[in-house]
Amino acid sequence: MKIKSKLLSNNISIPSIGFGTYKSGNEKETAIVVKEALNLGYKMIDTASFYKNEVGIGNGIKESKINREDIFLVTKLWNDDHGYENTIEAFNKSINNLKVDYIDLYLVHWPNKLNAETWRAFEYLYENKKVKSIGVCNFKIEHLEELKKTAKIMPMVNQIEIHPFSTKNDIVNYCEYNNIQVVAWGPIARGRVFTNDLMIELSNKYKKSIPQIVLRWHIQRNIIPIPKSSNKDRIKENIDIFDFEISSEDMKRINSLNEGDNISVSTPPVNTIY
Ligand SMILES: NC(=O)c1ccc[n+]([C@@H]2O[C@H](COP(=O)([O-])OP(=O)(O)OC[C@H]3O[C@@H](n4cnc5c(N)ncnc54)[C@H](OP(=O)(O)O)[C@@H]3O)[C@@H](O)[C@H]2O)c1
Repeated sequence: MKIKSKLLSNNISIPSIGFGTYKSGNEKETAIVVKEALNLGYKMIDTASFYKNEVGIGNGIKESKINREDIFLVTKLWNDDHGYENTIEAFNKSINNLKVDYIDLYLVHWPNKLNAETWRAFEYLYENKKVKSIGVCNFKIEHLEELKKTAKIMPMVNQIEIHPFSTKNDIVNYCEYNNIQVVAWGPIARGRVFTNDLMIELSNKYKKSIPQIVLRWHIQRNIIPIPKSSNKDRIKENIDIFDFEISSEDMKRINSLNEGDNISVSTPPVNTIY
């Protein structure tokens, strides 16, 4: 399966869909699914130090025998590691665990009162070519506006929870206007889409599975989805979305499932709210 790419604001190419790995299993299981995903055609692997699976991811990358430069590897800085020195230390731990010498995209996992200091370290890592691109996750407009006051380089990516029940139009439009690529976590709402009547109807109409309809909806919104699966057939199914087009009318019908920005498939850990 050939996956198309998009360009970030710094002209670095990013795949238009990625592979999520939150709760990917133990070290061995993680290595197996990562290797499978890469061999099936995924280029982007999304992890985080918080997922405690970076070692398994690194093993899967090595075992896949795919060249490092053909893989777009994403990891994230956890909440306990904010601040300039801590960020550099956490980054070094991540690259050691992953057994790589650079990261394609390093993300701040959640906004934090130390954002400005942390971001200075991100800029250092970027300028010193330790990371090819830098970005954030779960940032609202006010977090990005605040960061703008001190940042030399603005984030190239904002990874946020988006699915048909939470379409996040305001932040998506803000990011598009400011040339920040939006990446959707929880893109199939961890399965909540399966029982929705409209999804069932569209699945029959387009002869595609419900996850395929939803992932295609993200792509047509210019958003990069990163579905997670630990099942080979589902891993394959989730990237088989480039041979059909959802009509603009059906796109609008899916958009109308939106229940608001605060609808979430997960509750963030308490220390992450800022
Ligand atoms: N930045 C952040 O704060 C943040 C937060 C959460 C997640 N993330 C990232 O985003 C990724 C995706 O989000 P997510 O894992 O929360 O949710 P998700 O991708 O919306 O849903 C994953 C769930 O859906 C199932 N699934 C996947 N494909 C399927 C298919 N074709 N048919 C049926 N079931 C399917 C998976 O089960 P099986 O494994 O059994 O297939 C899994 O239980 C994460 O893995 C992680 O990398 C980032």
